Amino acid sequence: MKYWDFDTIYRQAPTSEPERQYYFIEKIHAILKDKFQDAVASGNAEKRYGKEKLNELLARKQIGTFMVRTFGCQMNARDSEKLSGILQQAGLAVSEDETADFVIYNTCTVRDNANQKVYGHLGYLQTIKKKNPQMTIALCGCMMQEPTAVKRIQKSYRFVDLIFGTYNIFKLAELLFRCQAEKGTVIDVWESTDQVVEDLPAERKYPFKSGVNIMYGCNNFCSYCIVPYVRGRERSRRPEEILSEIRRLANDGVKEVMLLGQNVNSYGKNLAEPMTFSELLRQVNEVEGIERIRFMTSHPKDLSKDLILAMKSLPKICHHLHLPLQSGSSRILKIMNRKYTKEQYLELVMQIRQAVPDISLTTDIIVGFPGETEEDFEETMDVVRKVRYDSAFTFIYSKRTGTPASIMDNQVPEALVKERFERLLREVQQISSQVCGRDVGAVQEVLVECENDHQEGYVSGRLSNNLLVHFPGDASLIGNLVPVELTEAKGFYYIGKMAKRS
Ligand code: SAH
Ligand code: SF4
Ligand code: F3S
Repeated sequence: MKYWDFDTIYRQAPTSEPERQYYFIEKIHAILKDKFQDAVASGNAEKRYGKEKLNELLARKQIGTFMVRTFGCQMNARDSEKLSGILQQAGLAVSEDETADFVIYNTCTVRDNANQKVYGHLGYLQTIKKKNPQMTIALCGCMMQEPTAVKRIQKSYRFVDLIFGTYNIFKLAELLFRCQAEKGTVIDVWESTDQVVEDLPAERKYPFKSGVNIMYGCNNFCSYCIVPYVRGRERSRRPEEILSEIRRLANDGVKEVMLLGQNVNSYGKNLAEPMTFSELLRQVNEVEGIERIRFMTSHPKDLSKDLILAMKSLPKICHHLHLPLQSGSSRILKIMNRKYTKEQYLELVMQIRQAVPDISLTTDIIVGFPGETEEDFEETMDVVRKVRYDSAFTFIYSKRTGTPASIMDNQVPEALVKERFERLLREVQQISSQVCGRDVGAVQEVLVECENDHQEGYVSGRLSNNLLVHFPGDASLIGNLVPVELTEAKGFYYIGKMAKRS
């Protein structure tokens, strides 16, 4: 390998973004290429990748492999696409598993089991790194914003090469460069940011649909939730940036966009020129080539009449609303700092259903919040029975250090929580299996996503309300919207057959 003057390269980097990161992408590419060529010449590359894989890398002018594993929500999934975009631009090939040269875990910390999953996987990574000490292991995302987690990793998982957080994922190339130049674990976790760096590369998991961040962070501080602490204050992207990204995606063949934010209903409030979420939706609806618009998540307290109107009148908006309830007890909702009551939530649901009768409603519910009594829990069951959700994500309350709820002294005993959780789950599943079958016989548009793994000659896709449909068809349909007659309801999905366009 030739001599690399890391200090000079670092000093000469541009200071403005994203130019700085494109500079580091180029540098990291040059360094890795140099290493790779050495490994090819010495025969080590063939030992490492096998002949076939090595030839594939050479043919594609790639210089190594990477994998990004995502834990957590859609926000994290989108961040992972940005990380992958940077790594691909640097000349690395996607790998399906952890035997890659660069492994990044994009972590979640919303509930304790999310953290436990990461620790479990880290044990597994250690055994892989023993076999291939050259590999680089990086951890990023929400869990890394917690000093206790970082300390534990530094102490017990010393084989980790790089730790960064949620605010500086755009800096991946620069951080990888530092990993090449410095000894020991590189740690760069920011406490906050008001920066939104635009125009870096991003890869997409699907060619025909994509998430689009419209805002970052959260200002709501629900008393159980860690997200505002690890994702920082609410920052909206400027509408011009969002729209130009969506136009680019449309030109690239994307038909469906999912607008992402922790609370999309408060989009635009902190912009220099404030703008509402429904205004943004109207503009996205105008983008040619985009045929479906989804969004996530809506906080009930900020859901405006104008948004309901937009959902009713804009043809591209999918008839699906994820409206987290959390609890049906007004008393608990108050302690959760959710800023709505059971009655207000039910009223909202009624208004939405009046405006958009075929809307599919989904929700999130927490069981066992501190102080939850049997009566409180019954209020939640009551809302579930009244609303009849298409589906509901149910969670056992998890204590998050640093949140107000974690120091509330009336934590509910585990056995009681489990018992309530089971009851809720049964109710939710029973209702959704009834609700989900309601459209049997109808013809609806399906965006075809993939060939069906289980049944040859079938493809799978999603309805506007997000339910899956399997129907006979071939790979040429992938990425297209096709009319499908829903012939059979299977609880959480449909079987269908292609219908003539009406
Ligand atoms: N911004 C979204 C939710 C993001 S977190 C919203 O406000 O709706 C996703 C879900 O995880 C939440 O809706 C909540 O139901 C659940 N959750 C968050 N913190 C939790 C905790 N400490 N214990 C259990 N579930 C939690
Ligand atoms: Fe967490 Fe509440 Fe913000 Fe959602 S709105 S991310 S639950 S604090
Ligand atoms: Fe988890 Fe962070 Fe999302 S904590 S749920 S990955 S915002």
